[in-house]
Amino acid sequence: MVKICCIGAGYVGGPTMAVIALKCPNIQVAVVDISTARINAWNSDTLPIYEPGLDEVVKKCRGKNLSFSTDVEKHVAESDIVFVSVNTPTKTQGLGAGKAADLTYWESAARMIADVAKSNKIVVEKSTVPVKTAEAIEKILTHNSKGINFSILSNPEFLAEGTAISDLLNPDRVLIGGRETPEGKKAIEALRDVYAHWVPVDRILCTNLWSAELSKLAANAFLAQRISSVNAMSALCEATGADVSQVAHAVGKDTRIGPKFLNASVGFGGSCFQKDILNLVYICECNGLPEVATYWKQVIKVNDYQKTRFVNRIVSSMFNTVSGKKIAVLGFAFKKDTGDTRETPAIDVCKGLIGDKAKLSIYDPQVNQDQIQRDLSMKKFDWDHPVHLQPMSPTSVKDVSVVWDAYTATKDAHGICILTEWDEFKNLDYQKIFNDMQKPAFVFDGRNVVDAEKLRKIGFIVYSIGKPL
Ligand code: NAD
Ligand code: UGA
Repeated sequence: MVKICCIGAGYVGGPTMAVIALKCPNIQVAVVDISTARINAWNSDTLPIYEPGLDEVVKKCRGKNLSFSTDVEKHVAESDIVFVSVNTPTKTQGLGAGKAADLTYWESAARMIADVAKSNKIVVEKSTVPVKTAEAIEKILTHNSKGINFSILSNPEFLAEGTAISDLLNPDRVLIGGRETPEGKKAIEALRDVYAHWVPVDRILCTNLWSAELSKLAANAFLAQRISSVNAMSALCEATGADVSQVAHAVGKDTRIGPKFLNASVGFGGSCFQKDILNLVYICECNGLPEVATYWKQVIKVNDYQKTRFVNRIVSSMFNTVSGKKIAVLGFAFKKDTGDTRETPAIDVCKGLIGDKAKLSIYDPQVNQDQIQRDLSMKKFDWDHPVHLQPMSPTSVKDVSVVWDAYTATKDAHGICILTEWDEFKNLDYQKIFNDMQKPAFVFDGRNVVDAEKLRKIGFIVYSIGKPL
């Protein structure tokens, strides 16, 4: 029986291994992590992450061929295939700070694998890493190998949060990169056999190591670039009277462009787009390609511009001040169907409003008060250095309250900011909300989820992204 171990029980490691266990009953899968709290949660009824469909998959397999453990060394030593799915945050200090990927967690995982291994292993890069990382990992493993053979594969993950389970069950493609040697090809085949339990073989792409590593950064850069492109257009739409939804629809009808990922928004968030593009920019700079670096940097700049523009629009439309005014913030997660707040645009928008002395009342169906307070008091990039391992910050941000429903959040508010596209925000009783608000009552829809015309009929002043007033 093949044994698989995954180091890192996070948003990627947990769901990915659960789906492998579900689809490969003949494979024993162990997910290990240094965080006891995370592992305890994976072994409990309340999983550490909210992801539609995940509970069912975990319940079906846990205790059979899927386990979660803090005994990292034991499970690594026993496994034939070791996935490494640890976090690869942006460096906060030293060379490349603010851009380069911090591979500390990866390196310590690799050293541990070399230390405890007693049999040959396939080591799989699941984390998103800079191109050429496999070369460094190979060096660490082989220099400490005691005669054991390690084959390194790159198998980047393309799942999106909120749809992780369906993305894993039905992926557009699975990418496996390896060395073009007989051992490398054998390792690729072994991993391909795992995915072939449920993924059609024509969707399993095999490449060299560097293409696989770079394809992951490229895919995220292309996706984020589409959002920055449509967001840049949204600014022009607001200035000219064009409607960004109509423009995106017309543009996306061109089959060469396609309709997906063209929703204008307050800006993209999430743990990866910004981090991976900064990483790409750094790699380009290190390879003497400043023009290419500048090109990709612009995707981030437009995203920052979009968030700032949103805050400025709120303040300027509310008579140039929000000082002392209650603003209801609906949605804090970086997208719907997740409780993840890493790099959510809500952080920058809330900080901008707090900077102008607004009083915020925040509601998100999946994010609690502690998380929001922590996010608003943390420094940029600190979030991805395992916060669940750190004690909670005792300070809380003044003028921010977190409530458990939209009606409490909006009561007596001067304005509403919609920052996550949760379905429930489409169907709120906006007449009741209007009645309970200060007048004039403003709505700033950062996700274009409400029916602006309907709300205007009630009496709201509605600002949508990239749409005429
Ligand atoms: P995460 O922070 O949720 O999980 C990483 C886990 O690794 C943490 O629980 C941490 O405690 C653990 N860890 C760190 N060092 C360890 C060590 N030495 N031994 C054991 N455990 C250790 O991160 P994530 O969101 O799952 O992302 C992991 C990687 O996957 C990143 O490189 C990310 O870029 C990439 N990725 C993420 C997504 C996503 O949607 N979140 C999608 C595709 C790729
Ligand atoms: C993204 C990619 O979609 C995944 O393929 C990739 O594996 C993952 O990053 C990663 O490497 O971590 P994720 O960040 O989970 O997945 O979610 P997305 O659906 O891509 O959304 C990212 C952000 O862009 C969200 O804030 C979302 O609201 C925003 N977005 C998305 C828009 O503003 N407009 C759109 O049209 C689409």
